Amino acid sequence: MPAVRVAALSEIPPGTAREVVAGGRILAIFNVAGTLRAVDGICPHAGGPLAEGQVTDGIVTCPWHGWQYDLATGTNCVNPAISAGCHTVRVEGEDVLVDLP
Ligand code: FES
Repeated sequence: MPAVRVAALSEIPPGTAREVVAGGRILAIFNVAGTLRAVDGICPHAGGPLAEGQVTDGIVTCPWHGWQYDLATGTNCVNPAISAGCHTVRVEGEDVLVDLP
């Protein structure tokens, strides 16, 4: 999988999220207490912007209708057959990189 630079680390401080476009996809990048997570940024339910959702204990709640996803896996918290997608994130220097298919 190619790694794509999506942001500078300083642009996503702990407790924040950022929507980015990379590799033709919309991604939501979260900094959960210093751990970076990346999921597809469009909620599978009806297209809500997951980067704008509230995060509690590593779970993001979609701002449109409240579906919740585990940011470590992208899995929907009620129906594990539904996934928001999940991408490996790493930091090299000041660069945040995401592996994309
Ligand atoms: S669009 Fe996300 S819960 Fe409906």
